[in-house]
Amino acid sequence: MSSYEARFKVWRGDAEGGGLEDFAVEVNDGEVVLDIVHRLQATQAPDLAVRWNCKAGKCGSCSAEVNGRPRLLCMTRMSVFRRDETITVTPLRAFPVIRDLVTDVGFNYTKARQVPAFVPPEGVAAGEYRMMQEDVDRSQEFRKCIECFLCQDVCHVVRDHEENKPAFAGPRFLMRVAELDMHPLDAAEEAGLDRKRTAQDEHGLGYCNITKCCTEVCPEGIRITDNALIPLKERAADRKYDPLVWLGNRIRRR
Ligand code: SF4
Ligand code: SF4
Ligand code: FES
Repeated sequence: MSSYEARFKVWRGDAEGGGLEDFAVEVNDGEVVLDIVHRLQATQAPDLAVRWNCKAGKCGSCSAEVNGRPRLLCMTRMSVFRRDETITVTPLRAFPVIRDLVTDVGFNYTKARQVPAFVPPEGVAAGEYRMMQEDVDRSQEFRKCIECFLCQDVCHVVRDHEENKPAFAGPRFLMRVAELDMHPLDAAEEAGLDRKRTAQDEHGLGYCNITKCCTEVCPEGIRITDNALIPLKERAADRKYDPLVWLGNRIRRR
């Protein structure tokens, strides 16, 4: 087993402010960045705050930025970096820092609560739902989400624009709206809830200009933009320019 000493810069501080601190730390074969952060805690910085849980890329809690790119610390192998490179580890930029590498991701929970849940179809008992396998497969992709919020962090709409947060749900939750809107058994419309309209008016779908940055950082490989956001935009536009819907709206307004 070979080992070497790597140079790290780790952000330390809290809501009041902070800065990068330099460390030289041992790295062994097969290690990931989270191993190095744990070694720092064990040997040089016992009070270094980091959030983690599964160390298997499944709980979504070790999200941070490595060399400025949103990543899971437990899934970022040290072998992807050159040995002479200085590696910078900083907290997620789009959310307020609590301490060191730990941020307050409450924004995401607020947005999650604003998306109305699946509306069960009337007259069909639970356990009797039937749908085509291709519809199951389509929403199954979105169900792989581990809620790491890396996509929320990278999206330029909120990354440096705190002022956009009230009006924009972010890719993770627009994807949730898309998932429910394409669900063949969701009875939202019958219950008077137009998910396409709320995507535009309440969740800020129009802010997304399909740059695909969210897709690029998703550790689950979910094609957020191509499979959720673009189809949702298309359906929202179809709805807006559908002549029957236009006529219905005109009649209702009279
Ligand atoms: S595709 Fe849309 S949601 Fe995704 S990062 Fe770009 S602007 Fe944000
Ligand atoms: S969609 Fe991907 S990047 Fe976004 S929260 Fe879910 S797993 Fe993380
Ligand atoms: S510790 Fe669970 S995803 Fe990294």
